[in-house]
Amino acid sequence: MTNQAVAELIARSNRLGADPKNTNYAGGNTSAKGTETDPVTGDPVELLWVKGSGGDLGTLTEAGLAVLRLDRMRALVDVYPGVDREDEMVAAFDFCLHGKGGAAPSIDTAMHGLVDAAHVDHLHPDSGIAIATAVDGEALTKEIFGDRVVWVPWRRPGFQLGLDIAAIKADNPQAVGCILGGHGITAWGGTSAESERNSLWIIDTAATYIAEHSRSEPFGPALEGYAALPEAERRARAAALAPTIRGIASADRPMVGHFTDSHVVLDFLASAEHPRLAALGTSCPDHFLRTKVKPLVLDLPATATVEESLARLQELAVGYREDYQGYYQRHATPDSPPIRGKDPLIVLVPGVGMFSFGKDKQTARVAGEFYVNAINVMRGAEGVSTYAPIDEAEKFRIEYWALEEAKLQRMPKPKPLATRIALVTGAASGIGKATAEKLAAEGACVVVADLSLEKAQEAAAGIGSSDVAVGVQVDVSDADAVQAMVDAAVLAFGGLDLVVNNAGLSLSKSLLETTEDDWDRQHDVMAKGSFLVARAAAKVLIEQGMGGDVVYISSKNSVFAGPNNLAYGAAKADQAHQVRLLAAELGEHGIKVNGVNPDGVVQGSGIFAGGWGAQRAAVYGVEEKDLGAFYAQRTILKREVLPEHIANAVFVLCGPDLSHTTGLHVPVDAGVAAAFLR
Ligand SMILES: NC(=O)c1ccc[n+]([C@@H]2O[C@H](COP(=O)([O-])OP(=O)(O)OC[C@H]3O[C@@H](n4cnc5c(N)ncnc54)[C@H](O)[C@@H]3O)[C@@H](O)[C@H]2O)c1
Ligand SMILES: [Zn+2]
Repeated sequence: MTNQAVAELIARSNRLGADPKNTNYAGGNTSAKGTETDPVTGDPVELLWVKGSGGDLGTLTEAGLAVLRLDRMRALVDVYPGVDREDEMVAAFDFCLHGKGGAAPSIDTAMHGLVDAAHVDHLHPDSGIAIATAVDGEALTKEIFGDRVVWVPWRRPGFQLGLDIAAIKADNPQAVGCILGGHGITAWGGTSAESERNSLWIIDTAATYIAEHSRSEPFGPALEGYAALPEAERRARAAALAPTIRGIASADRPMVGHFTDSHVVLDFLASAEHPRLAALGTSCPDHFLRTKVKPLVLDLPATATVEESLARLQELAVGYREDYQGYYQRHATPDSPPIRGKDPLIVLVPGVGMFSFGKDKQTARVAGEFYVNAINVMRGAEGVSTYAPIDEAEKFRIEYWALEEAKLQRMPKPKPLATRIALVTGAASGIGKATAEKLAAEGACVVVADLSLEKAQEAAAGIGSSDVAVGVQVDVSDADAVQAMVDAAVLAFGGLDLVVNNAGLSLSKSLLETTEDDWDRQHDVMAKGSFLVARAAAKVLIEQGMGGDVVYISSKNSVFAGPNNLAYGAAKADQAHQVRLLAAELGEHGIKVNGVNPDGVVQGSGIFAGGWGAQRAAVYGVEEKDLGAFYAQRTILKREVLPEHIANAVFVLCGPDLSHTTGLHVPVDAGVAAAFLR
């Protein structure tokens, strides 16, 4: 049965974490102390339950808690070797665990265990950090909270900070919490309700004070030419800039992107002080671990042209990398971990918005959220004082902390297609759907494009959240629609790496039966459609400078002269030759172009269900329901081909193993000698 203290802790954490004003995503931690019966001795034992490393308060469950023996945890004070060796105490927590110990104890465990209160909350609220990063934060804390909240000068999280806060609580019995300079807040209470009340009181009191005392333009007056572009123009501009920006952010390692054009971001970029403030960087350790110490800011107005903006971004990227290298060199010691990449994680474009980057979409999105937190912090601090984040040397000590490095080293190995952004046309059904699912399962972000938005979104939702797959509407035979699809893909994930030309339809007719309309429809969707998609996508791939893959789902019928198949077979042959032509043309950009030749994929195929199957069955003189089995029997392997077999071939062609293959067609037809390639 769940301990009452634990039940209250989880409920309180979920409430606090659900409201973004209280803490950033996955930021902060909470704890409770209580008694349980020791199963070994039958005696009561005092325990500390504290949110473990990782995870978010809003969704915290009991499994996310570390469970420690309070007497042993507190006994660490007697062996504590001093602040220079405080990191050793993290390993010592493992010797204080109760039972299997639950989640891994975080660096903040000492603060929770050492503070003498049954419940403790450590949070990163924008309002609290605004006071914590004000140049006169200590005086402001006194003015706002009197003696009920105590100022703690900046100190990197760890055992010593825990000792400091415990001492403050002991020395200030009237206090309900403290403001941690440069960082956040900690509050406590004798009961869970009291701790929650105190946390919220600090957060809301700080916010109210800022609202009532802030100067009218905390970010300075509006900058001429820097106002937000109208929405449609802004989005088009963002899509035009995105590939180059992703290339910049991916110079050291490939990144997935996220685009935000919220008012918070646009207002910040439209104001005079944004260059100075952005250069000061973020402050809360949680913020800059995800955003890097500072963003890259395009120093041109929104009225600049796309070409001017792109050229300036490239220049700024060179400077950004030099600057970051300098920061590393200024602060690295012989035992610092190696430099982790010099590219920006946040790129700000006045009038347009913010691009944020990470090793996957969720990380990229959260980096953007954290920069919005940082903007809120800067607005609050500048409104009532002057923003003064922790200094660069301290930021380096956090960013290249051995404990942080160890956390990164523990991360599971990424999947083969991690960081790759795939676009599959005709992906709401059959082969396209199976391909989108396979690429996502191998780690790619996937854009599911099809004629029906609803079906595309349904297929995307079947794959996962919008961090993994999004659905977009497209008619691939319409150039404007294709451009809109590519723009949507680029805005969803920052760019594009892997394009699957799969959309298709099929009519089985003899030459004399084939109308002009039949011919045009099949050529418009398959021959022209794949040309339009390849053209729009290749522009993105070339601008990114990160290579890429284009895969065509051609057909056995591109080489085999099947019966009653003129328009379809000819359109497929056209697609197959596009593979060779584009492989030759795009190779200089590191872009591989390959194809798959399926045959007889009946199950799941809308083409077969929509009449083609009946026609083919009639041509071959079998029942429609037996068509899959009929096709299997005429293959060399006597196996039925399923959509996932085609999807597997697409994965192999664009996965890590076939890195040196372009211009190839892979038959996936269970063996049809008449369609062998030579
Ligand atoms: N099923 C097979 O045996 C087989 C064999 C060889 C080649 N192929 C090829 O594989 C591809 C997928 O076929 P499938 O069997 O999965 O068929 P399917 O009908 O299940 O899927 C095709 C998808 O393409 C979409 N589409 C059609 N026209 C479009 C357009 N103008 N714009 C955007 N989307 C459009 C459809 O809405 C559908 O969702 C096709 O190119 C087909 O020619 C299939
Ligand atoms: Zn913190």
